[in-house]
Amino acid sequence: MDNSALNWQKKIYLEGFAGKLPKVSIDMQHLEKAARQGMSPRAYAYIAGGAGVESTMRANRSAFEAYKIIPRMLKDVGTRDTSIALFGQKLPSPFLLSPIGVLEMVHKHADVAVGKAAARLGVPYIFSNQASRPMEEVASAMGNSPHWFQLYWSKSNELVKSFVQRAEQCRCQAIVVTLDTTMLGWRTRDLEIAYLPFLEGKGIAQYTSDPVFQRMMDEPDDQEKPKREITLQTIRGLVSMVNNYPGNGFFKKLKSGRPVKAVQKFISTYSNPCTTWEDLKFLREQTKLPILLKGILHDDDARKAVDYGMDGVIISNHGGRQVDGAVSTFEVLPGIVKAVNGRVPVLLDSGVRGGADAFKAIALGARAVCIGRPYVYGLTLAGEEGVYDVLRNFMADFELTMGLAGCKNVSEITRETLRQNPVGF
Ligand code: GLV
Repeated sequence: MDNSALNWQKKIYLEGFAGKLPKVSIDMQHLEKAARQGMSPRAYAYIAGGAGVESTMRANRSAFEAYKIIPRMLKDVGTRDTSIALFGQKLPSPFLLSPIGVLEMVHKHADVAVGKAAARLGVPYIFSNQASRPMEEVASAMGNSPHWFQLYWSKSNELVKSFVQRAEQCRCQAIVVTLDTTMLGWRTRDLEIAYLPFLEGKGIAQYTSDPVFQRMMDEPDDQEKPKREITLQTIRGLVSMVNNYPGNGFFKKLKSGRPVKAVQKFISTYSNPCTTWEDLKFLREQTKLPILLKGILHDDDARKAVDYGMDGVIISNHGGRQVDGAVSTFEVLPGIVKAVNGRVPVLLDSGVRGGADAFKAIALGARAVCIGRPYVYGLTLAGEEGVYDVLRNFMADFELTMGLAGCKNVSEITRETLRQNPVGF
């Protein structure tokens, strides 16, 4: 199949000539606006929101503006190769899909639809630890296409071990440990409407499908159970918890008490703020797969990741959802690349909204970038096809930016292709 930018661009214009507009908006702001209409206010708050006054989200975007591309002419860019190599594998483009949880809020096929779209393009999909579908189901829908697993470090090392083993068994090619969400950030939009999807049993499919977690549910919990007022809303929440729990028979599941236990156990164990660098040794012993640390923003942490035997870092501030007023990912990229000094690949996410962002990140030393919210907006609007289109748009935009800047392939995207703006520009 011809996945070239010109082919995709031609298809869009020819369809327009026949009166048909793209299924998902090309413009990122239009895309978000359209997706907002297609999801509940609760889903929108959860997906689109960030921490505090969302200054980290804004910084993620504005940081890219601090550098500009200097296009070079007459370089014979008739053939363009956007492929990259990562952990011994050739990938068609420098894009991956970041893990995003609770996708059932925006589309019934959730993670499976995303996996299928990613597989059609050979774009690696990092399965979310907070997915709506078990990793095995998504992996099987993706066949041999690359997929990784995102791990949240739970309070139970047994569960961590089980997740990693399952990821290996379903042929995940890397483990991405997200370090920045040892607690949920102060998410203004979610708090404002007092809504957390996990309480309805959404986004906990990796847990309810796990044998170790199922055992943990039977262990006594020392957490105090809050007394809840019974309202119509609580009953709705309970119905959702039961429906989201695997298996058939609503009343059978309700009577077993397991759907409620699952949510309670998840809340009390899903993450461990006491985790330290030393704990990485445990993870290193569990798997030979490459392990990447996600959430790295400081040069010393990047250096330490390598010292602790990690295989890569993902510079991320969780799409601005954790620490408000934090550094943007793009501004810390050069320092981290220098600290790592070529020993492991450096990836970046948070704020990537187009081909030029990927180009700039590569020019400053990133191996690849991860796309987040935009693919969820595509999923909202048109399921698998929507995710596919969003990905094709990113890939085409990148290929054209690369060629028009005078680069035939990704290795020609060097520091010399960029200029840092003088202050005030
Ligand atoms: C979880 O990963 C979240 O960002 O809500």
